Amino acid sequence: MPQVLSRPRFPSVSVPALSRLRGQHPLAGLRAAWRRASVAVQPVLRLDARDATDLVDHYMALDPSDRGARFNSVAARETLERRYSDLDWDTSRVLGIRSGGRLVAVAEIAVSDLGGLPCRELAVSVLGPWQRAGLGERLVRRAIRGVCEHEHLPLVLYTRASNVSMVRLCARLGARGETLYGDHVAVFDPA
Ligand SMILES: CC(C)(COP(=O)(O)OP(=O)(O)OC[C@H]1O[C@@H](n2cnc3c(N)ncnc32)[C@H](O)[C@@H]1OP(=O)(O)O)[C@@H](O)C(=O)NCCC(=O)NCCS
Repeated sequence: MPQVLSRPRFPSVSVPALSRLRGQHPLAGLRAAWRRASVAVQPVLRLDARDATDLVDHYMALDPSDRGARFNSVAARETLERRYSDLDWDTSRVLGIRSGGRLVAVAEIAVSDLGGLPCRELAVSVLGPWQRAGLGERLVRRAIRGVCEHEHLPLVLYTRASNVSMVRLCARLGARGETLYGDHVAVFDPA
């Protein structure tokens, strides 16, 4: 008697996964999976003045809405070139993850103050095709380690309350969050 199996013998593919593939190139899902796997093993690098051009290229490659979310302004190339050619790379720490030489994820940690007390301010950006692969989380975790655990200072991130990905990421990693008039501030307390 053939055995009746309640489950298929082959690995099942979830319905949301199939619907995401619908309307895309048949290899799009595989490419995205490959991208995720390949960046997972790339190290987090400390960037310096030699990386300034790559950094500007990274910001210009963000979707305009993502660049707007990152800088809270349109941020034209000339403005960014001026900003990063003048940056004090010792005071500001810039971390990056590369894929095939290209900077695909960046975190900037700047000197700042919170209620008159010293703190560090964090800003993060990940290029669209590499988003939702855990890179944002890796960079925020690295910043928390450097600032909250080693410097024993608060780490602060400002964004719009409508930036659901960023607000949720900060909350998941333990930030206290406060929203006022559509602006959100997330604070990671020192360890
Ligand atoms: C906000 C931002 C930095 C998040 O970066 P990211 O690399 O996509 O972040 P992560 O991948 O760590 O997490 C994002 C989501 O992907 C999910 N994710 C992580 N790894 C995943 C994987 N392998 N497969 C599927 N989903 C995954 C996370 O669970 C998270 O889900 P949620 O939003 O539903 O909670 C990115 O969207 C961005 O650059 N935005 C524009 C700039 C900006 O807004 N910066 C913030 C102000 S400074």
